[in-house]
Amino acid sequence: MAAKWTIIAALALCHTALAEYTKFPEGFTFGVATAAHQIEGGWNENGKGENVWDHLSHNRPELIADGSSGDVATDSYHRYREDVEELAYLGVDFYRMSFSWARLLPNGRIDNVNADGVRYYNELLDALAAHNIEPLVTLFHWDLPQALQDLGGWANPHMIDYFRDYADFCYKTFGGKIKSWITFNEPYEICEDAYGDILKAPAVNSHGVGNYLCSDTLLKAHAEAYHLYNETYKPVQDGKVMISINSIWYEPKDPSNAEQVVLAETANQFKFGWFAHPIFSQQGGYPAVMIENVARNSAAEGLKRSRLTQFDEYWTARIKGTSDFLGINHYTTHLVTGAGVDPGAKSPSWLKDVGAVVSTDVGTDSASAWLRVVPSGFANLLRWCKRSYSDPPIYITENGYSDRGELMDYKRISYFNDYLSEILNVINDDGVRVLGYTAWTLMDNFEWRAGFSERFGLYHVNITDPALPRTAKLSADYFKQLIANRELPKENKYKEPAITKVKSEL
Ligand SMILES: *[C@@H]1O[C@H](CO)[C@@H](O)[C@H](O)[C@H]1NC(C)=O
Ligand SMILES: *[C@@H]1O[C@H](CO)[C@@H](O)[C@H](O)[C@H]1NC(C)=O
Repeated sequence: MAAKWTIIAALALCHTALAEYTKFPEGFTFGVATAAHQIEGGWNENGKGENVWDHLSHNRPELIADGSSGDVATDSYHRYREDVEELAYLGVDFYRMSFSWARLLPNGRIDNVNADGVRYYNELLDALAAHNIEPLVTLFHWDLPQALQDLGGWANPHMIDYFRDYADFCYKTFGGKIKSWITFNEPYEICEDAYGDILKAPAVNSHGVGNYLCSDTLLKAHAEAYHLYNETYKPVQDGKVMISINSIWYEPKDPSNAEQVVLAETANQFKFGWFAHPIFSQQGGYPAVMIENVARNSAAEGLKRSRLTQFDEYWTARIKGTSDFLGINHYTTHLVTGAGVDPGAKSPSWLKDVGAVVSTDVGTDSASAWLRVVPSGFANLLRWCKRSYSDPPIYITENGYSDRGELMDYKRISYFNDYLSEILNVINDDGVRVLGYTAWTLMDNFEWRAGFSERFGLYHVNITDPALPRTAKLSADYFKQLIANRELPKENKYKEPAITKVKSEL
């Protein structure tokens, strides 16, 4: 079965899909996303505590591509009214934003509430309500209070309690204004990039060990925050809770190579399945191939236990089913080229445990080395999710394209258009239940370790001007049209003029 659909998928890579469907179904919603640390700034203003990204950019500035930081970012702490005006201009149905844990609870605990943080988010939520924009709020978008990191962060199982307390505080304080919550944004990036590597703060680099300690804690913390809402708040507040999982989707480089086909499936189980399988599968727990591979490697390394702790019966049941929707962040597809240890893999590590050699030599490029443009991979991921997780209702909670900040951003528009077209294909041809779409991101912002060097915004932000002026890019116009018509635009006005193309090729 796996072999068959992958071959079809790979054939689709070879030619550009025609936009067969253009109209979005009734009730399909559109929004844009941001994250607190990437836009707010005001890093130590009015009582906000230090978070792991403040700590990393101040103490290891060499890890940020352009030496920038989130100290000011795009200053949304002061300029949020402008942000809301932009959202209103675009006509979005919802705004996906995140709370800064350390702005609300400076030391991470509920014994020290920062009243200014509560004021800030109340004002922002009220401004959204005044424009009829629904908030979709992420509780944790990577900016852990440093005080909790000092205790081990997500490698410390006591974080389950700290996260539940924080979630409780947020539901209680803001739940009257919020109907949709996301617990965690991109758990793979939190655990693998930040604990298993130095790609994200706090850059623990405990490869093959800290990453799996993190997932054990994070999935339990997610489940507790879900159950708390479901049992205590939902009867009164009537909202929904989900998790947003990122996928780099893997395909075999040669779809007729049976080994590559199996390994691509293994890589998808390790990447997306690591966090999706415990929550969305029928069986629960980690994917079987992950349990097997990590146990085998751990034994070979001379360890007494697998580096990946399995969930016992209690936790398997407690975690299963704890998301009202499957939130998917998707940007790109990579290839699996063969079996063995990838040349870039540390030992031990997640990548060595996958046991595949991977490549980014596919599709066309962007300003981010990891982001290759492969629209057909998106459709394959969505069909795979429908099959693997019993047809869950899906929200695309991020999707977007990076460049260097061009105002006439034709390539971003063509990315959006091609990826949205794949969503329409799977809705219409495969019955995948995609209910909404979120563009990443409202404006150019502090893109983590890439600083301001990779820009994903619908709005340009001039960071050399102290007033940080925002300017709508052509893609903002495209997105506004799309939302107004609930239809992919048919006109040619968003196509890159041929002359520009020739120039850029010189
Ligand atoms: C959420 O609450 C409802 C109503 O009590 C219950 O039927 C359902 O099983 C709960 N969901 C989970 C995943 O526990
Ligand atoms: C950004 O602002 C600086 C300082 O005001 C100005 O010199 C520059 O021209 C601006 N750049 C753009 C692209 O507007």
